[in-house]
Amino acid sequence: PDHTMDDRIAAAREKLGASTVLLGHHYQRDEVIRFADFTGDSYKLSQAAAASEADYILFCGVHFMAESADVLGRPDTAERPGQRVILPDLNAGCSMADMAEIGQVEDCWETLLGAGLKESELLPLTYMNSTAAIKAFCGERGGLVCTSSNARTAFEWAFARAEKILFLPDQHLGRNTGWAMGIPMQEMVVYDPWQIGGGVSPERLRAAKVILWKGHCSVHQRFLPEHVDKVRAKYPEMQVIVHPECRWEVCRKADAMGSTERLIRLVADAPEGSSFAIGTEIHLVNRLAREFAPKGKKIITLDDTGCLCTTMYRISPQHLAWALENLVEGHVVNRIQVRDDVKHWARVALDRMLEIPA
Ligand code: 13P
Ligand code: SF4
Repeated sequence: PDHTMDDRIAAAREKLGASTVLLGHHYQRDEVIRFADFTGDSYKLSQAAAASEADYILFCGVHFMAESADVLGRPDTAERPGQRVILPDLNAGCSMADMAEIGQVEDCWETLLGAGLKESELLPLTYMNSTAAIKAFCGERGGLVCTSSNARTAFEWAFARAEKILFLPDQHLGRNTGWAMGIPMQEMVVYDPWQIGGGVSPERLRAAKVILWKGHCSVHQRFLPEHVDKVRAKYPEMQVIVHPECRWEVCRKADAMGSTERLIRLVADAPEGSSFAIGTEIHLVNRLAREFAPKGKKIITLDDTGCLCTTMYRISPQHLAWALENLVEGHVVNRIQVRDDVKHWARVALDRMLEIPA
């Protein structure tokens, strides 16, 4: 095997020392995540970014995660420059985050108010997988951010302050969370930003408790209810555990759902000999399968082939080595920097999230 990249990354890391922290999301490739100082789901990584003292945060994840780290990181002061956040490949985006654009969200808000909903009864809540501008939109209107690990607590937080929620941009996480809280389906409506008036009548909007933005994860949406049926028929003893970005029909049939961190914990805490079919990104599933095979745990992907997040996959050892070696030379490449006016309200929304339990 060619260890050139490993050697280059390790050498650059050593030279940079404590000035640089490397954060890695669980969907990263093995050859990248092995260099991470902290691994986690988006909640845990945003906590790590907020707590880090390093001058440079190398985010091995996707764009919205790096933006959130920039919002939560130490700001510039007269005494000391703020933290610099680097995304090794700027093309590492998220197809779900791309499904909601700030102009569309502003139009949606106008539509809701035009339909007769009052600002005092409505709170916007956005999934972490969204742009900083959308987080700021929520923060400025009294709302907050959530991740898959604290969506329910965030819903409860919002319902303690308002009667209705506009949830952006993942309809599946929103529906799965609402359903788990006992909100009937007829009180959750889907707002389609590509249709006039969201494609919903003003009456239905007024009657809804949760208004779901019509966005989804193109990776998790590929898991289907028939995949669960197939696993149940072939391996009756197997537990099906899925990420809440999967469709409601899939989550309903599963034994448990949770963030990437929770899925890992479910596998780790299970007794020896347990088996799992997991509905989430293939790199995490394969890693768990390898890691827990010696403990007699069998782990397979819920579908037949495995779902790959192609944008997470963009962070390669080559990109990582390039970004680190530039830092050694004193060059900050691929910096992710959120505009100051956006940063303020995005930070308010993210701080509200970090104040509620996961
Ligand atoms: P987690 O916060 O559960 O890691 O999820 C992030 C994500 O993008 C899943 O697709
Ligand atoms: Fe975005 Fe889906 Fe990839 Fe997560 S798995 S980063 S939601 S495209």
